[in-house]
Amino acid sequence: MRVLRLTLLVLTMAAVAVAAPIALKSLSPPGLRLGAALSTAQVEGGDARSLSIATDQFNSITPENLLKWSNVHPEPARFDFSPADRFVEIGERHKMFVVGHTLVWHQQTPAWVFASADGPRADRATLLSRMREHILTVAGRYRGRIHGWDVVNEALEEDGTLRRTPWLEAIGEDYIAKAFEFAREADPQAELYYNDYNLWKPAKRDGAIRIVNDLRSRGLRVDAIGEQGHWGVGEPSLEQIDDTLRDIPARAGVKVMLTEVDIDVLPRDPAMWGADLAKKATIRAATNIYPDRLPDEQQQQLARRYADIFRLVLEHRSQVSRVTFWGVTDAQSWLNDFPIPGRVNYPLLWDREGRPKPAFDAVGEVLKGRR
Ligand code: XIL
Repeated sequence: MRVLRLTLLVLTMAAVAVAAPIALKSLSPPGLRLGAALSTAQVEGGDARSLSIATDQFNSITPENLLKWSNVHPEPARFDFSPADRFVEIGERHKMFVVGHTLVWHQQTPAWVFASADGPRADRATLLSRMREHILTVAGRYRGRIHGWDVVNEALEEDGTLRRTPWLEAIGEDYIAKAFEFAREADPQAELYYNDYNLWKPAKRDGAIRIVNDLRSRGLRVDAIGEQGHWGVGEPSLEQIDDTLRDIPARAGVKVMLTEVDIDVLPRDPAMWGADLAKKATIRAATNIYPDRLPDEQQQQLARRYADIFRLVLEHRSQVSRVTFWGVTDAQSWLNDFPIPGRVNYPLLWDREGRPKPAFDAVGEVLKGRR
């Protein structure tokens, strides 16, 4: 009887060992953080399974939405800090590097921010004072507890010129410098970042490098440039990713990070953009090509893609300070709804049930083989 019980115990322990995969964070080289974006539902306890995957596997977290202006500061005199407080507590409980996303952006920012009492556009002084109050209140509240901030997000057009956002139009080109100045004032210890997508495109990357060199020439703090990394299975090419990871630190003098990584496996037809509603429905049906499961071949292709990306990250590891995935499981991914709502996408390392995918094993193998 006793032997039987012991055998059962040993078998159970072995099963647990098999079921709990090795943590990616434990395989990562020193200086390279691995993170995931947490949704508001995860932070508020609505998705315990994926939250525990995140806290087991990663040593950094970024909030997917809850610190964006419209979430945290929906009305002029109203801040909603409770989800953000929970988010920061999770980071502290698990001793994680906590990232704030994002202070100044043209999206998910309420219309009142840019409006004046008598029209849609406030003047420079008003906008600067709103920006400063917002940054001092939000980054100031988490001083010493949020360790790095995406200060300005997506300030560039694809050709590398400054995007014509309300920030640029009302304040002028120095709005970026002002945002970094206020962030420094709010928390002198926090790392500060410029974050954008498609920095693998040389012209846009030049724009980001120009922004950061300008900030540095003004004596402002900037620690890294984040390339979001919303990529496809075939695009950008490995050469373009390699160039990005080499070029940014070499020419901007700061670290590079991949801040919102996910790999879209669904077709992206340029005709989807701006399509009228009727056309959109047809396109959705035609491009939602894996409604039930990702076929093995595509699953392996995704795994190889992630392995290739992590090989490049390791090659440049002295200059790459973080890789953050934009979500934990496929169920959470914004790519189920972008650029077309209501598709079934498979961009992350865990499936909809929270099981690690071949892409998870592939990333683990690359990290293991680094020595
Ligand atoms: C996305 C979120 O994932 C979605 O939940 C939200 O509806 C829209 O924003 N670039 C960014 C992120 O910097 O903040 C965006 O996140 C994805 C693109």
